[in-house]
Amino acid sequence: MTDYDPAENSRKSYDVAIDAMREKLASFRCERIHDATLYLGDCREILPLLPRVDACITDPPYGNANHDGDYNASLNEHRGIENKPIANDTAETMREVVDAMLAAVVNLMPKAASAGCCFWGGGGGPTPVFAWLANRMDQKGLQFFHSVIWDKRNPGLGQRYRRQHEMIMVAHKAGGRILWNEDDRLVPNIRSMMPPRERSHPNEKPVELLLDVVGTHSRANSVVLDPFMGSGTTGVACAKLGRKFIGIELEPKYFDIACKRIDDAYRQPRLFKDEPPKPKQEALI
Ligand SMILES: C[S@@+](CC[C@H](N)C(=O)[O-])C[C@H]1O[C@@H](n2cnc3c(N)ncnc32)[C@H](O)[C@@H]1O
Repeated sequence: MTDYDPAENSRKSYDVAIDAMREKLASFRCERIHDATLYLGDCREILPLLPRVDACITDPPYGNANHDGDYNASLNEHRGIENKPIANDTAETMREVVDAMLAAVVNLMPKAASAGCCFWGGGGGPTPVFAWLANRMDQKGLQFFHSVIWDKRNPGLGQRYRRQHEMIMVAHKAGGRILWNEDDRLVPNIRSMMPPRERSHPNEKPVELLLDVVGTHSRANSVVLDPFMGSGTTGVACAKLGRKFIGIELEPKYFDIACKRIDDAYRQPRLFKDEPPKPKQEALI
């Protein structure tokens, strides 16, 4: 009879579990483009299989049923963007996928320093979603830290309070601290820039905005994750800044666009050799 060795037994169980996770991850379509790894599939299935990440910088469905035959959808048709609703964009499905994403992402982050930056539509209504998100971040093991305003410079469609801003909700792992590129940098919390004129996704964000957010909340060797990658703007910023990137997208059409945009970004010269330039603090008076 052989002696039972609990340490050996738990090592074997661990190896079996890791092999099973690797096998499951390998069942998803995966494209590796330089330092970017892109998965096609549902982030709820893929996130639990991923290794550690330093920052999650993402832009989930807003829960507004965007592009569901609305005026924007018909405008976008002229830009060549398919008139099709964004996946999981109803008030209920958005809450399900965002809750699952937060719960999974918190397990991937180191306690010491991490950053979770989540875009959200600003404005009001009886259940303002940015307030719901700050609360859910706190409930799911993150700690809400700050909101940054993206001023789009032009009011959106509609009457009376026409939305001109989106919010970027910034959090870190509870009990840890926020990951900064440099600890002592002065960072303004309003960013003013127009949405991209040319776009291949109805919710595409300006690359400059993602350069700013990724450049502020990651360092040269950081791994940045975007579980709702869309057309891959976060990945484009990571390619330009020299960050490692993991992206997930459910829709094959947007996944293919992201692959192409990130590949193109790697073919262009990098913006910065090591670190992005520091934003200048304007004179106070
Ligand atoms: C607001 S858009 C992101 C746009 C992106 N920031 C860009 O610049 O193109 C959200 C994306 O999440 C994707 N999505 C929705 N549910 C998903 C899920 N469960 N897993 C992965 N992606 C999902 C949608 O298909 C959509 O492309």
